[in-house]
Amino acid sequence: MTKTHDGAARTAHPRLLNWVDEMAKLCEPDRIYWCDGSQAEYDRLCEEMVASSTFVRLNAQKRPNSFLARSHPSDVARVEERTFICSRREEEAGPTNNWKDPGEMKEILTEAFRGSMHGRTLYVIPFSMGPIGSHIAHIGVQLTDSPYVVTNQRIMTRMGQKVLDTLGKDGEFIPCLHSVGAPLEDGERDLPWPCAPRIEDKYIAHFPETREIWSYGSGYGGNALLGKKCLALRIASVMARDEGWLAEHMLILGVEPPPDQQGKKKKQYVTAAFPSACGKTNFAMLIPPTGFEGWKVTTVGDDIAWIKPNKDDGRFYAINPEAGFFGVAPGTSPESNPNAIDTLYANCIFTNCALTDDGDIWWEGLTQEPPEHLIDWKGNDWTPRSGIPAAHPNARFTAPASQCPCIDPEWENPKGVPISAFLFGGRVSKHFPLAFQSYNWEHGVYMAATMGSEATAAAIGQAGMRRDPMAMLPFCGYNMGDYWRHWLRIGRQMVATPPRIFRVNWFRKDEYGRFMWPGYGENMRVLKWIIDRCNHCGAAIESPLGWVPYYDAFDWKGLEFSKDVYAAINNIDTEIARHETNDQEDLFTLFGDHLPQEMELERDLQLARLRHSPPVWDLADAAKLG
Ligand code: GTP
Ligand code: SPV
Ligand code: MN
Repeated sequence: MTKTHDGAARTAHPRLLNWVDEMAKLCEPDRIYWCDGSQAEYDRLCEEMVASSTFVRLNAQKRPNSFLARSHPSDVARVEERTFICSRREEEAGPTNNWKDPGEMKEILTEAFRGSMHGRTLYVIPFSMGPIGSHIAHIGVQLTDSPYVVTNQRIMTRMGQKVLDTLGKDGEFIPCLHSVGAPLEDGERDLPWPCAPRIEDKYIAHFPETREIWSYGSGYGGNALLGKKCLALRIASVMARDEGWLAEHMLILGVEPPPDQQGKKKKQYVTAAFPSACGKTNFAMLIPPTGFEGWKVTTVGDDIAWIKPNKDDGRFYAINPEAGFFGVAPGTSPESNPNAIDTLYANCIFTNCALTDDGDIWWEGLTQEPPEHLIDWKGNDWTPRSGIPAAHPNARFTAPASQCPCIDPEWENPKGVPISAFLFGGRVSKHFPLAFQSYNWEHGVYMAATMGSEATAAAIGQAGMRRDPMAMLPFCGYNMGDYWRHWLRIGRQMVATPPRIFRVNWFRKDEYGRFMWPGYGENMRVLKWIIDRCNHCGAAIESPLGWVPYYDAFDWKGLEFSKDVYAAINNIDTEIARHETNDQEDLFTLFGDHLPQEMELERDLQLARLRHSPPVWDLADAAKLG
């Protein structure tokens, strides 16, 4: 290591040292600091950021060791239009990704990164996605000029000297270069949230063939915490294709029913892919409602699942590669998600939340009545009469997973947990049923591939409905058609019993725009039906879309929910379903030769089933259909 390097962390990995030197030569930081991942280092960085106004220290009684950061108003979410897959051939990236030639992108970014760290420190963050040293973990090293990123990465990943120790002298790592893109002139005062404010100056670039990530211009979330979407999804999805596993935008949860007559508990695990801000964190931390006494739901992960086939028992096993939650704050409350609220008691970073007069955080939905006065996410005075949200809709908390009261005992097991079902769910306010099951693996892959969802705050600038196959539209690092083929192949060839596949939708609305399904804890009723189906004891009938639950297939104990409302959220209108199925052709034709034939076959089968259907499938009364 050269003498210009500071920090306690030490390595003798020549490739890593050379790369750091080379990147430092390009970015020209004032100093280089190797992160050891210690608490002392974390505390020091937080203090420095309080001094530089990047962080506000929260009230030590109410929210010990926690901080609030307010981003630049231009830097509040992932930027999908500036996210690039730079494979050698455009076809490799496919029609759903932004593509750029890797050489061209390197040229553009080399110029952008040149001198980009003037006046700043280059932090070296060695991190592990997955438990350190486990055979399924992958190591990345992020270079960044953002201390905010360093502190967030310490919560979101396993980070520091222990990762360098695991790397040894020649271990494999994924190089992740990051700059906020705001070099400082001599004597120039820094901003609390430096970034490149113009959208066209931001680049989130992935090089799948060489397994590299270069991110420039943003300090927010998935743009900047490069282990998350960039490594654990976009690059990992390519590795998964090559190596025969799956890297998915999925939560992982455990369901434990009350003990049976022999006192045995049969715990099962499911994963669920919902698009950004569509309820993964909520569902992962579900609290069973009245009527489900003795049931327990535990959390393995809330955003990403790495899923590997196990040859010994022919099942898929999933691990959560992350160590923390980067969760949507607005809407999180003691009523909607008490487990998340308890997780946030201390040691957290809050971004773009509002600040209360007593130095705590607030966001829309946290309490029924907003406080009389706040400082909003832009740093301005706010009252309930201001007429604008106090927290940004994509405000987030960064919290250690270990603080979650319902964290699963197996959450760090390097073997992962065996998966019984894959759930897929978008945000669909009209016409889409609450739940149904695929007929088989191919049909399930088709159901997941054609998933649609309405825009949320995390995908700003997008209006209406968009297709979001497997909730992976912004996260698949290669051609989506090939990704579907990979899904088809892996379920057929790699495991004896692939998980059952389900579609769910919590978001159907009535004509007044109100949600018709109570959701949250009540989603347990759907989850129980799913578990029952996996155990071959749940009731369902064949519909054109798949196996659907009729009213009596659900356990309604503890909830008054009429057959009429059930009919309204679950009934299938044949004509509308036919329209939707026809519409999928637009998606499929995008892929040309890359579209697996099974997809068109499944679509044809669905159209055929719809052709012979009554105009409405009334699921209130199974007998009527029989
Ligand atoms: P990312 O972290 O962006 O990947 O998203 P996520 O899927 O983890 O998002 P999160 O769980 O934080 O979703 C938050 C949004 O989902 C909020 O708007 C909640 O109000 C809403 N939500 C969650 N569960 C339910 C539910 O059961 N019913 C309804 N109607 N809304 C829900
Ligand atoms: C998502 O957008 O799906 C997230 C948040 O989980 S971020 O990490 O910013 O991508
Ligand atoms: Mn996500």
